[in-house]
Amino acid sequence: MSENMNLEQILDWYITAGVDAVCGDEPWKKTPALDIEGKKPKELSVPRLATTQLAQATVSACQNARQICSQAETLDDLKKMVEGFEGCALRLTANKTVFGCGSAQADLLLIGEAPGADEDRSGVPFVGRSGHLLDKMLHAIHINREECFVTNILPWRPPGNRTPTDAEIAVCLPFLKRQIELVRPKIILVLGGSAANALLDNIEPISKLRGKWLDYTTTKGEKIPVLASFHPAYLLRNSAQKAKAWSDLLRVKQKLCEN
Ligand code: URA
Repeated sequence: MSENMNLEQILDWYITAGVDAVCGDEPWKKTPALDIEGKKPKELSVPRLATTQLAQATVSACQNARQICSQAETLDDLKKMVEGFEGCALRLTANKTVFGCGSAQADLLLIGEAPGADEDRSGVPFVGRSGHLLDKMLHAIHINREECFVTNILPWRPPGNRTPTDAEIAVCLPFLKRQIELVRPKIILVLGGSAANALLDNIEPISKLRGKWLDYTTTKGEKIPVLASFHPAYLLRNSAQKAKAWSDLLRVKQKLCEN
C-alpha cells in the first residue's frame, strides 16, 4: 500500500486483500515499539492490564448471559434477550443476530458453529451453501428442516468467518444451552469439531468424536443423546467423507424411530 492512496483506493486495497469486515473504529498497536536503544518500553505492562480487564469482562459477560437465560421462559423471549445482549463484541460487527429457528417441539436439534456471510445477511441459520447441503442430507433421511430446530454455538458471525475465540464461545454458550432446554429435543446432532467441542466441553478431534452416541447433560441434569458428525462446509470440500456422514445420518434416523 502506498502513502499517496486516497480513502477509496485504500478500501479497495483491503477488499482485494480479503478484508471484508472491521473490528473497531480505533487502530491498536499489537506489540509496543522498542525505544532507540532497543529496550522494551515501560508500557509493556499495559497489554497485561488489558488482558486482565478482558478476562474480567468475559467473566461478567458470562454471568450476565446466564442470568438473562434464567429469565427467558420461551424461545421468543430468549431471542429478544440475545438481540439486546451487549456482552459480546461480535454483535458490533455482525449485521444480524442469527438465533435458532425451526420447530419449538422438534425431536431433532442441530447445532452448527457460527453464521457465515449469507446467514449474517438473512438472520437465519444455515441458508448458504452449507445450508443447502444440510437440507439435502436431512431430506435423504426423510426429514424436513421445518421439523427440526437449527441453531449455532454463536448467534453472530465472526468477522471474515474467523475462528471464534474461547471467550466468545464461553459468553454465547448459555444462550445455546437455554435453547436446548426450551426445545427439549430427543436427539442433538452437532455439526463439526468446534461445535462438538464447545457443546461437550472437550478437545477431541471430530474424527474421534463422530459417529458414536454421547450424552449432553442440561443445566437441569437431563441427559440428551448427542451425535457429532462432519460440518456440511467440510463435506463440500471433502466429498470422500460423505460416506461417513451418511452412516451418521442413518444412526440419527434409527434413534429417532426408536424413541
Ligand atoms: N455454518 C454454520 O456453522 N452455521 C451456519 O448457520 C452457517 C454455516
